[in-house]
Amino acid sequence: MKMTVSVATGAPRANRSIGAILMDSGVLTPENAERIILFQKENDIRFGEAAIRLGMLTEADIQYALSRQFSYAYLRASAEKKSLSDELVAAYQPFSPRVEQLRAIRSQLMLRWFDKTEQRQVLTVVAADARVGRSYLAANLAIIFSQLGERTLLIDADMRNPRQHEMFLLQNKVGLSTVLAGRSRDEAIIRITDLAGLYVLPSGPIPPNPLELLSKMNLDEFLIHARASFDVIIIDTPSLSVGEDAAMIAARTGSVLALARAGKTRISAFNDMVQGLIESGVAVVGSVLNDVPEPKQVKKK
Ligand SMILES: Nc1ncnc2c1ncn2[C@@H]1O[C@H](COP(=O)(O)OP(=O)(O)OP(=O)(O)O)[C@@H](O)[C@H]1O
Ligand SMILES: [Mg+2]
Repeated sequence: MKMTVSVATGAPRANRSIGAILMDSGVLTPENAERIILFQKENDIRFGEAAIRLGMLTEADIQYALSRQFSYAYLRASAEKKSLSDELVAAYQPFSPRVEQLRAIRSQLMLRWFDKTEQRQVLTVVAADARVGRSYLAANLAIIFSQLGERTLLIDADMRNPRQHEMFLLQNKVGLSTVLAGRSRDEAIIRITDLAGLYVLPSGPIPPNPLELLSKMNLDEFLIHARASFDVIIIDTPSLSVGEDAAMIAARTGSVLALARAGKTRISAFNDMVQGLIESGVAVVGSVLNDVPEPKQVKKK
């Protein structure tokens, strides 16, 4: 399914009406808004209900408008603008069951880990093998932390096969690799204008020596700076099967979320990874099993 982005213009304000929000975002024409208001008055019902009964808006339109009223940033599909990746389910389908699951992970992490006053702001997403959903999890977690009002930075530290710039439609001329090489600084961090509170540092151009770059002091310096500016910092990494990059980043940040994919990650590989991280003094804050098959519906006799 192809999706594109359109977002209401202007800052979301709690006192803007649903009709105004949907007109600003081009979903509702002024003429239709007028007809809805008349119908609403005649029948003494709420605007949203009137619009749905007239077939002019859908339930999804109303949910979108409500989310803007309460400053809960998410995106809607649109024909006009080029889309961010539809993998960003937290942005496009914030009320879907899979995003509920991501919010449950966020709650656990808020309870058990993140605390700016304690300097617990960074979480590195790691996995033992490739294609398990690190980039997907890191991006969507970053979005849902930003939706909670946390100033959130997503760092693409996969300098071998980076994907965050593709998902967020960003140029990748500067990013982590140029920051680590001392060739750029804050200007490499991109504010995602449609998702308030979310910032992305893409990987930057793929360097020939990612591990060497990661061992430089520049990473520590950058993290000190980032910790001062952000509440939550989430780091996407390459698989441990392709190099020591993730282990290096984990050692420098001190904390990981360990990911495995059902039916793919071998338990022994996962355990070895976790054991190795713990032995090098890294806090394994939690583990996530991705892509767990839905339980089969049992037919009632
Ligand atoms: N929970 C999920 N639901 C739906 N699709 C998912 C989920 N997790 C991952 N995917 C999809 O699986 C594919 C691999 O995910 P992703 O690129 O995030 O993995 P990765 O571990 O970052 O891989 P790589 O080793 O290439 O860095 C992507 O197409 C992604 O959209
Ligand atoms: Mg990845």
